[in-house]
Amino acid sequence: MNTLLSESAPSPSEGSGEPDEVTVLTIRGGRPLRGRVDVKGAKNLATKAMVAALLGESASVLRDVPEISDVQVVRSLLEVHGVTVEDDGEGVLRLDPSGAVSAHMEEIDAHAGASRIPILFCGPLLHLLGQAFIPDLGGCRIGDRPIDFHLDALRAFGAIVDKLPSGIRLSAPDGLHGANIELPYPSVGATEQVLLTAVRAKGTTELRNAAIEPEIMDLIAVLQKMGAIISYEPNRVIFIEGVESLRGYDHRCIFDRNEAASWACAALATDGDIFVAGAKQQEMLTFLNVFRKAGGDFDIAEDGIRFRRGGALKPVVVETDVHPGFMTDWQQPLIVALTQAEGVSTVHETVYENRLGFTQALNKMGADIVVHPEGIASPDRRVPRRALEQAAVITGPTPLHGADVVVPDLRGGYSYVIAALAAEGESIIRNVDIIRRGYEKLFDKLAALGADFSVAG
Ligand code: EPZ
Repeated sequence: MNTLLSESAPSPSEGSGEPDEVTVLTIRGGRPLRGRVDVKGAKNLATKAMVAALLGESASVLRDVPEISDVQVVRSLLEVHGVTVEDDGEGVLRLDPSGAVSAHMEEIDAHAGASRIPILFCGPLLHLLGQAFIPDLGGCRIGDRPIDFHLDALRAFGAIVDKLPSGIRLSAPDGLHGANIELPYPSVGATEQVLLTAVRAKGTTELRNAAIEPEIMDLIAVLQKMGAIISYEPNRVIFIEGVESLRGYDHRCIFDRNEAASWACAALATDGDIFVAGAKQQEMLTFLNVFRKAGGDFDIAEDGIRFRRGGALKPVVVETDVHPGFMTDWQQPLIVALTQAEGVSTVHETVYENRLGFTQALNKMGADIVVHPEGIASPDRRVPRRALEQAAVITGPTPLHGADVVVPDLRGGYSYVIAALAAEGESIIRNVDIIRRGYEKLFDKLAALGADFSVAG
């Protein structure tokens, strides 16, 4: 029997990132997930497109916006800066920046929450107001999450960056000019930082070693709708010609590949059968190859993808990478499914230095996962090997049993949910609110798929 909290209940821990013993999910596992889930717009595009609205001289409309706390954080930050945001309750936001004003540091700090998006306000606020204050960032504790690439890029555009005890203050007394920037690593956030700053800078910007994830290309589409002039080469070079002014956009977000991949892994882990409405094959090609190699079966339909097991699960060797490689956000749910594969799998994490810690709780549930801090890297890869790499070796199949666990980060938390659903017996999952940063209506979707759970707090 499921007792659901209202999905829109403001989460007490929102933004704190501290374990919240109040909202506790109790799952009674051992049942396959079967049914349909609808995936909305991508968390990692919608939040950036909302920031882009600041650059427009007229209002913007963003469609298919997911109802997640990361969107709420960005909405609050925009409103603190005088942007009016109307929500029609059906995933359509109307953002009007015509009343944009500077905000007080304390107000910004109070709303920044456990998100990394505030760093992307720098360029738009510098263009709009000539100054910006960005509080220290939150975000999943999957590594140090430095912002040196961002600050180096902003300085290249002519910004003055002062580090404060609680964040950074930026100013651009002479305005911002185009720059030639080469990223040390194809950072998604740093690429977005350059895009959101260069479009209104005086002159042309050339960005080398850029990230080219589908969410980045969708942000380029948003900016082009606003009047920006952006082109890119296949070898990760992006050119931006700065323009005098930009207008509002009307854009439907790309679907959330990470959520789609998460539900696909849930189908593998629980021997279920899940239709993910809104998922598209093109942006998931690499994931689908690994899904198939692991023993999964999928059917591509016009309006989504059906995921299920195609027989016994098989071990795989996966290395996370920048696009078009296997996304780092996909490895955590996949590892849960690999605990049920017949053999030894390896997952080599090359993007973050601490994104395999979540496996300890899986071992507490009966999994057999060994993490090698030094990694098991292949010599030839798109980006040179970095010292921070780690590898997980998963030996299966291992029957999972219920346990009491605390959610460490967004994707790790989701992985605990599907591990508990695959496990025999009852599991207690604490600090559940972190999961709601990136998964819209999680409890409703679990109920629709036949999960047996209750939520307290
Ligand atoms: C974005 O994070 C996503 N988050 C992440 O998704 C995703 O895992 C990541 O891109 C990689 O695809 C959002 O879009 C909100 P990066 P971001 O800059 O931009 C290092 C999820 O689960 N780096 O590409 O922060 C960094 O430490 C989240 O939805 C620097 O060293 O990722 C990391 O090792 C988790 N200096 C690597 O680059 C910098 O200034 C990739 O980070 C910036 C990054």
